[in-house]
This record gives sequence, structure tokens and C-alpha cells, in this order.
Amino acid sequence: MSLDQSLNKILIIDFGSQFTQLIARRIRELGVFCEIVSHKKIKENDIDIYVKGIILSGGPLNVYQIKRYSFDQKIIGKEIPVLGICFGHQILSKLNGGKVKQSKHREFGLANIFKKNNSLLTKEIFKNKKKIKVWMSHADQVSKLPKGFRVVASSQNSKFAIVEDKTKKFYGVQFHPEVTHTENGKKIISNFLFLICNIKKNWSSKDQKLKLIEEIRDQVGNDKVICALSGGVDSSVVAQLLNKAIGKKLYCIFVNTGLLRKNEEKQVVKTFRKLLKINLIYVNAEKEFLKKLTNVSDPEKKRKIIGNLFIKIFERYAKKIKNVKFLAQGTLYPDLIESKSVTGSQTSKIKSHHNVGGLPKKMKLKLIEPLKFLFKDEVRKLGLELNLSKEIISRHPFPGPGLAIRMPGLITREKINILKDADHYFIQSLREHNLYNKIWQAYAALLPVKTVGVMGDNRTYEYLCLLRAITSEDGMTADFYEFKKTFIQEISNKIVNSIRGINRVVYDITSKPPSTIELE
Ligand code: XMP
Repeated sequence: MSLDQSLNKILIIDFGSQFTQLIARRIRELGVFCEIVSHKKIKENDIDIYVKGIILSGGPLNVYQIKRYSFDQKIIGKEIPVLGICFGHQILSKLNGGKVKQSKHREFGLANIFKKNNSLLTKEIFKNKKKIKVWMSHADQVSKLPKGFRVVASSQNSKFAIVEDKTKKFYGVQFHPEVTHTENGKKIISNFLFLICNIKKNWSSKDQKLKLIEEIRDQVGNDKVICALSGGVDSSVVAQLLNKAIGKKLYCIFVNTGLLRKNEEKQVVKTFRKLLKINLIYVNAEKEFLKKLTNVSDPEKKRKIIGNLFIKIFERYAKKIKNVKFLAQGTLYPDLIESKSVTGSQTSKIKSHHNVGGLPKKMKLKLIEPLKFLFKDEVRKLGLELNLSKEIISRHPFPGPGLAIRMPGLITREKINILKDADHYFIQSLREHNLYNKIWQAYAALLPVKTVGVMGDNRTYEYLCLLRAITSEDGMTADFYEFKKTFIQEISNKIVNSIRGINRVVYDITSKPPSTIELE
């Protein structure tokens, strides 16, 4: 492959959609390099010969709020194919002389679109069908097409659901092809890349690895970095990336918060000392964490206290090591979306993930978060590329605040010990029944209620254990896993019979949304 081809890219111009990273992810999945830039920053001169196609994202704005979306219009006059998605479709039409107005019927969720004309963009999309299902999320819509454009597909409410100007290679879609709910959505993006922009595949996990290593080297220079290692897949991938990028300038710190899974601290330290020839510091901060969490039951307070204490410990060790400038963390894109708005759109805060929103405002160390634009399954692929073992890569996610957020209400040593045992039995049973790898994440939680039971001939009054096991692609949405009755009965018996303190087990059957994966 010539050097030129490897630099070719698709440019995604972000207007603040919560799906922008999802567009990037689909393009990466299709093996093509892409970059995201804010609509406020990109100028005509930034469009170099390597840009083979432009995607205008969706966004919460309205095309008539011209000052707010300040966009250099000359960008789309450069004879480069353009695909406008939702708001991007509206702005593309408006800039070419079309009209946009508020829809009579706002469309959110699934809608059918009907084929009106053939187009390269929709090649093999409809196959023998007249209609396909797409995911809509809009209040405005194009009401008059610009000159030179024609309709490719319409929905009941959006006459201009897909439009094109074949000569200029301008395409607009009112719906979101990047979300999985859109039938053949990925194929629409693939047609844009390979049939319209004529770009060739030039991106893989290996390229991703090399780019991230290079970026870390650039960012770190001659300074030292501490890495918050938890033993989970994300922080392990970050540690290995840093190891390859800066070697001995990396110090990994594993903090035992007292809120880890049973025997986890021993396993992680053993595995990593053997696996990576890195500086690994083990910190036992059990007492410190439990003291700070005494009498705290509010979920956000728990998260903030834990986030703050983590940072304090890292800063303490940074001082000891000397000349440490950076703290590296395995933050992923979904963590960012749920902790705060990353795109400037109206995403609301759901939880303060401890490695993002849970951090103190004033922090001496600068953050390095190499995975912050990736999704979990992409990180797993990257882990394989970095030669991490399958065992590490396939570990279920475990949140930084640990068992604290799987124990609504007050945190006590007694409850932690009960919960550690319940979780251990559950996970062990999943492994024994070959279910562990079919499930995206599973855990036991301890609810702050006691209920009455009978064991032998005696009355018991003990805690309620909740089991959760979900399937998911990236943690953004999830469904509960359907166990066979025999399995769920067996694990319930095991927990109640073996653990003093639990006399009832329930299974959580809610999906995300409306619930979240963790309880707090
Ligand atoms: P929720 O509960 O938000 O969880 O649906 C989505 C995924 O994120 C994990 N999670 C966290 N990970 N720090 C982390 O590193 C956190 O504070 C945190 N909170 C939730 C959760 O386990 C699930 O995989």
C-alpha cells in the first residue's frame, strides 16, 4: 500500500450529535481511517488531498441558528463527496438552496422508508423489498430540495428521507445509518465509502495500536507516567500501550480499595508481575476507603469520594516516584457520554464514572486517556493486537468504585464480605457451566433490605441478594440474559445455603434503558 493511501481519510464534521463517535466506529469497522473535527474549528484550508469524503453529523441545532453553528460553507464546495446525516442532511440542503422547516410530526424511533429511485448510496439496501426500517430522531426536516437533487427514499413523514445530487456527489439521509436499529445502516455507510468516495481499506487494529503508541510518545515526551491499573481489560490495554510506548517511564499502581472481588488483589498482582515487565506498585488502601465511606449512602457521594481518594493516592505516589506529570486511565467512550456531555449536545449526566466525572476539579496530574474514543469491543481487539491473554481480554467489566455501587445504602465490612462470597459463587458457576463468555457482564449485589425466611426449623431474617447478568455490545444498551431454570435455581441454592447473611436471591430482568447496568 502506498503511503498516500494509508493517509486517506473520511472527515466527520461534528455538529454535536451523541452518535458522532458511532459514525467513526462504523467507519473503523469497515477498515477505513477517519477523523472527527468540530464544525466550529474546521476551515476550508484544512481540507487536504487526503480527505476523500466528508460526513456532516447530526446535532441538536436548528439550521436557522446560523451564528451558533458557525460553519465554513466553502468546505462543501471542494468537489469531495458529502454525506449529511439528520441535521447534516438539513444543513447540506439549506446550503445548496433548499428549505428546512419544523416537521408537523416529530419522528423518534423506528420508521419505514420506501424506495423511490435507485442510487449508489442504497445499492443492495432494499434488495427485493420496497421498504426498510430506519432509526429517526428529528424535529425539523427538509421541505424543499435544492436544484439538482432528487429523492431516493421517503418515509410517511419525511418525503426527503434519502436524497442525492449525483453530479456533485452530495447525499443526505434524514435518519441515523450509524445506529444498529437501522436495517442495513452499515451498508449505507459502506456504499458511501467504497462506491461514492472510492476510498480503499487502510485501517486495522494494528494501525490503531501504532497510532496510539505514537500519540502517547508525543504527549509524554521525557516525563514519567503513572497508570491506574485495575486488572480489567481497559486498564490492562492502557498499561500495555504505555509499556510499549515509554517502557521504564511507566509506573503502574494497583489500589486495593477493599471493594474488589474476592481475592482479586492477589490474582491481579500475580498476573501482572509475571506478564508485563513493568514497575508495579501495590497499595493497600482498604482502611482509608472504608473510613471515608462510613455513613455514606448517596450513590453520587460514594462515587465522588472514591474518585477523589483514588487521585489523592495517585498524587501521593507520584510525589514519591518524582517527576511524574501524567496519570493514565482506561476511560472508554461510553464512560464519557454517561458522565458528561462530550459533544456539546444535550446529553444529560447519568452517573459520575469515577475515572471521569468522579475526579476532583483540581488535579495536579494531567490525564492520558488513550481509549477515550473507543468502545469496549474495539478495546478487546486492540488487546489481542497487544498480545494480552484471552483471559484478561474476556474479563467482564468491573467498575472503578467496585462493590460500593453494588451495595445500595451503607457500606460495612460485614456486607462487603457477604457480597464478595455471593459474587464469587455466581461467577464461578458461570465459568463451570460455560456461560461466562456468553454474558457481557455479570455480578451479585446486596440490597439493603432484610426479609424473613425459614432454614431448618428456624426463622431467618437476612439480606436479599440480587443477581444481574446482561448481554450487550458496548454497555450503552443491554438486555438481561435468559438462564435456564435449573441453573438459576442451582446458584440460588448455593448462595443461600453457603453464605450466612443471605436468605433470598432475586434475578434482575430489566434492560438498559430504562435501568442501568450497575445499581448505582
Ligand atoms: P451503567 O451502570 O452506567 O454501566 O449502565 C455501564 C458500564 O460501565 C461500568 N461502570 C463503570 N466503569 N468506572 C468504571 O470504570 C465507573 O465509575 C463505572 N460505573 C459503571 C459498568 O460496570 C458497566 O460495564
